[in-house]
Amino acid sequence: MADLAVLRWWWLGVMVAMAAAASWSGGVLPAAEALGMNWGTQASHPLPPKIVAQLLQDNGIKKVKLFDADQDTLSALAGTGIEVMVAIPNVMLDSITDYDTAKEWVRRNVSRYNFDGGVTIKYVAVGNEPFLAAYNGTFDKVTLPALMNIQNALNDAGLGDSIKATVPLNADVYDSPANQQVPSAGRFRADIADLMTQMVQFLANNSAPFTVNIYPFISLYLNDDFPVDFAFFDGGATPVVDNGISYTNVFDANFDTLVAALKGVGHGDMPIIVGEVGWPTDGDKHATATYAQRFYNGLLKRLAANVGTPARPGQYIEVYLFGLLDEDAKSVAPGDFERHWGILRFDGQPKYPVDLTGQGQNTMLVPAKDVPYLPRTWCVINTNAKDTSKLADNINFACTFADCTALGYGSTCAGMDANGNASYAFNAYFQVQNQKDDACDFQGLAMPTQTDPSTPACNFTIQIAATSAGHRRRGDAGAGAVLALLALLHLFLLH
Ligand SMILES: *[C@@H]1O[C@H](CO)[C@@H](O)[C@H](O)[C@H]1NC(C)=O
Ligand SMILES: *[C@@H]1O[C@H](CO)[C@@H](O)[C@H](O)[C@H]1NC(C)=O
Ligand SMILES: *[C@@H]1O[C@H](CO)[C@@H](O)[C@H](O)[C@H]1NC(C)=O
Ligand SMILES: *[C@@H]1O[C@H](CO)[C@@H](O)[C@H](O)[C@H]1NC(C)=O
Ligand SMILES: *[C@@H]1O[C@H](CO)[C@@H](O)[C@H](O)[C@H]1NC(C)=O
Repeated sequence: MADLAVLRWWWLGVMVAMAAAASWSGGVLPAAEALGMNWGTQASHPLPPKIVAQLLQDNGIKKVKLFDADQDTLSALAGTGIEVMVAIPNVMLDSITDYDTAKEWVRRNVSRYNFDGGVTIKYVAVGNEPFLAAYNGTFDKVTLPALMNIQNALNDAGLGDSIKATVPLNADVYDSPANQQVPSAGRFRADIADLMTQMVQFLANNSAPFTVNIYPFISLYLNDDFPVDFAFFDGGATPVVDNGISYTNVFDANFDTLVAALKGVGHGDMPIIVGEVGWPTDGDKHATATYAQRFYNGLLKRLAANVGTPARPGQYIEVYLFGLLDEDAKSVAPGDFERHWGILRFDGQPKYPVDLTGQGQNTMLVPAKDVPYLPRTWCVINTNAKDTSKLADNINFACTFADCTALGYGSTCAGMDANGNASYAFNAYFQVQNQKDDACDFQGLAMPTQTDPSTPACNFTIQIAATSAGHRRRGDAGAGAVLALLALLHLFLLH
């Protein structure tokens, strides 16, 4: 989930009372073949790539979608046989409109790994949701030229038959008319209709897939009147009826709106990859492990059974779940849930039982192995502190640089008293700062402890320790810059 998307019509659709339960015929394929996982790394302390690669293998995950082409990540995936979608971030699209730069990108980030025992790259994601309405057209001019350059560079390198360039798009690139809110009326958004037509033609010319991110959770999050059951796959919602077809879940309705939009530009049979779909577990009243389990239960069973959708019945759908791990450094502009999309915690520990093969045999996933943690030391409020007048300032400071989203309304750590709040914030900051001594002071308001302050509902985490010295990690580069600013800000805010 890159950013806020306004998914307008799915709850407005013609609601006709008509009992129809989704059903699927028994023919079952191992879903692991189909199932991919998004591996994002916007974390203060990302798990070492080798540990994640092992985690993927231990859980039988055979496809992974990345958000860049990081060298350590690709090295860790080398020789695993896992199929990979590498990516070009939006900020790089402009430079890729130069063909030589595109060729160099392909040479360095694709061709280089194309050897026996190398990385099985299948796709290059050119940008990430670049036409999101919230971006106000920032990437409208550069995306298609970048896509063309990358596919042409792949073709020139002799890789074009096996490696396809595609653009993961938010579902807000299509909609249906206000007076005809049904999937079969789907069309591309007016402001980018020509652009989308050209893009689809180019993808078709190269036998490349269309990639879309679909978020039933966001439909629910953005609209209190959205029928909750329609976000899931187990029936109960009043179906939306479209030309005699009953839609019982928003995933199908959304997917088929895209099918209609593609049909409208002459490519109704273009392969569609679902680049992201998932459910978060914290940061909102609907972001809970219980709902996440319900969502994945329904989704994974359908994928395993190749149910397809009403517009493409019985078809296999290539899907990448979002995501593998929680990312504590993601922007919370879309909502506090944004840092909690992981099927696993930030440290690769399972949150709830799930069966990725879609057979309904839910068990805990295999956890990450050999995770290097910081010592079991937490930072909590010093209840003996005399002057507490600066408590609020200090909490704000901590939560500016660490993840406090679990404290909000409807979240796992909501409902603690003021001291509990302070302790949570202080500990989050202390961990982000790698438990540096002076990171647990807060003008005498905080103190370290060896006693775990966690409660059954609320987890006071211990962060991951940095791996062996000298090992380059992208996350650390970002953290380094933040650290440099911290001392200054600390002075500015508190003294
Ligand atoms: C390869 O990808 C990395 C990570 O996305 C990027 O920083 C780098 O600039 C790319 N290399 C070239 C030659 O474009
Ligand atoms: C897009 O435009 C809106 C309204 O003009 C503005 O508030 C917002 O900051 C803009 N966003 C970007 C990414 O430029
Ligand atoms: C697709 O291929 C056709 C036929 O070769 C060509 O005329 C057309 O320009 C191509 N379109 C794009 C967008 O590449
Ligand atoms: C704890 O923090 C949350 C989130 O910042 C806030 O909404 C709540 O009012 C706080 N509770 C107390 C008792 O201070
Ligand atoms: C807290 O996180 C740890 C490490 O991921 C996990 O083992 C534990 O089950 C979690 N506890 C709660 C209460 O969620």
